[in-house]
Amino acid sequence: MHEIEPGKVVEFFLALDMKVMELNLLSLSSVRAFAAAWEARKEPLHVLINNAGIFSMSAPQKFSEDELEEHMQVNYVAPALLTLLLLPSLSRGSPARVVNVNSDMQWFGVLDPDDLNLTCGKRKYSSVAAYSGSKLAQIYFSSLLECKLRSGSGIHVICVNPGIVKTNVIRTLPKVVQAIYNFIGCFSLSSLEGARSVLFCATDPQVVQYADALKAKGWPVCSYYSSICKPNDTSKHAQNMNLALRLWEKTAEIIGLSTEDIEKLLPIC
Ligand SMILES: NC(=O)c1ccc[n+]([C@@H]2O[C@H](COP(=O)([O-])OP(=O)(O)OC[C@H]3O[C@@H](n4cnc5c(N)ncnc54)[C@H](OP(=O)(O)O)[C@@H]3O)[C@@H](O)[C@H]2O)c1
Repeated sequence: MHEIEPGKVVEFFLALDMKVMELNLLSLSSVRAFAAAWEARKEPLHVLINNAGIFSMSAPQKFSEDELEEHMQVNYVAPALLTLLLLPSLSRGSPARVVNVNSDMQWFGVLDPDDLNLTCGKRKYSSVAAYSGSKLAQIYFSSLLECKLRSGSGIHVICVNPGIVKTNVIRTLPKVVQAIYNFIGCFSLSSLEGARSVLFCATDPQVVQYADALKAKGWPVCSYYSSICKPNDTSKHAQNMNLALRLWEKTAEIIGLSTEDIEKLLPIC
């Protein structure tokens, strides 16, 4: 991949017409404020990339101000709320895409919609259980939203695995483990390489054709791409549409939107 020379990075970004807005996914009120500020512009939105995520390895279980387990909130619930609230903008920008940065850890995900916080005692909290569960939840939500968005809406919801990428995701690990990871990290992708499959899903025409083909054959799960930009399988769990529906209802309850409110946000076509 073409690398930008370090000295040219600032120049490169200044040449883009970028605006920065505040958004804290650990706060649903911050998500609502961000979405309201964006919507007030009445501008079209062509691509929404839900990239932000946490994997707090070896850290203790933590909860947000909304009383949600932090992985579930940052990786799933807050981006789900953001996506729903931005549907009118996406509709104005149609054809448009929502690209959810997922992970192959979804294969290890197990989800109980009645115990998203992993506090009921049926399943013990670990950062792996919380992270993989949040990524599986994101696939359930993406699949149902993709189903609900009619073909005429021109909006697609896609999940993608960036691969094993050398980033700051290891920041919560002990320093010695970070050093080992960085050494092994010589074999993992750089940040630019990690962005490749995400940008492919955001821009390539094949992605829309594939999503349309899945829809036409009635496949219940949304498109899921690998780090080498190829359509890939999701876990068998991800195909459990009863669970997906239960999660959808639970999520609506958590974010304070009724099924009717959500239906109103869906584009009319
Ligand atoms: N790295 C990998 O090997 C790998 C593998 C599979 C999937 N992924 C996925 O790739 C995505 C990016 O992760 P990464 O590896 O780049 O991790 P990272 O270096 O830790 O970056 C995480 C990003 O999420 C943002 N973020 C975290 N908490 C937030 C919050 N409460 N509100 C708003 N933004 C928040 C961070 O913003 P600040 O910088 O402002 O904190 C940062 O930009 C995640 O969804 C992750 O699950 C990564």
